[in-house]
Amino acid sequence: MIEERPIIALDFPSSSEVKTFLARFPKEEKLYVKIGMELYYACGSEIVSYVKELGHSVFLDLKLHDIPNTVKSAMKVLAQLGVDMTNVHAAGGVEMMKAARQGFGQNGKLIAVTQLTSTSENQMHSDQNIQTSLAESVIHYAQKTAEAGLDGVVCSACEVEVIKRATSSAFICLTPGIRPKGSQTGDQKRVVTPAQARVIGSDYIVVGRPITQATDPVAAYKAVYKEWNQE
Ligand code: C5P
Repeated sequence: MIEERPIIALDFPSSSEVKTFLARFPKEEKLYVKIGMELYYACGSEIVSYVKELGHSVFLDLKLHDIPNTVKSAMKVLAQLGVDMTNVHAAGGVEMMKAARQGFGQNGKLIAVTQLTSTSENQMHSDQNIQTSLAESVIHYAQKTAEAGLDGVVCSACEVEVIKRATSSAFICLTPGIRPKGSQTGDQKRVVTPAQARVIGSDYIVVGRPITQATDPVAAYKAVYKEWNQE
């Protein structure tokens, strides 16, 4: 299922920056935002409640990875916060992912991180002692994620096609690393445009700095929205 709103990564250090940023948008514009570790650990669950009360949707990107029982209990709490989507590390295993699903229930989308895009094949070989190609490891984790009953994975746009082939077309591929034409790539290495992401088959795109650091964030958001929806 394709989400027409690009997810805005709210990578801000405190709630005051978030409030200033969101206040720029018209009240009736309901956004989909990503709250990551920095903001969540700085502000706690209050930031989620604040954003939800404004009527926006929330992807809480905390990448849980612990023993199944702990993850299940934590997921129950996140479900109560009313988040629309959250995630775990697939490396936690099928049992942990099943426990995450039990805890979170069907209250929203639950996805997994396969291999972080910051991990190179060499690092995977030496640090994790996984002696396959990076692509094989990503596909393997995606299949385990599907087997555990989760909805999809966070992945690079370059991996969408093989992941969907190895799982199903309904398996969600959420892709960061998106840059509208002509914008700064920053520290992202392999980037695609919103239009390319749509052609490739991404279901959700995550866009941070091209919107949050723009001189006119509302105009930048609208441009990404248009390009993603091929208007
Ligand atoms: O500013 P930018 O568009 O690069 O932000 C992308 C967001 O997606 C950041 O919050 C980043 O941490 C996150 N992300 C990513 N690559 C991944 C997983 C998450 O860029 N593989």
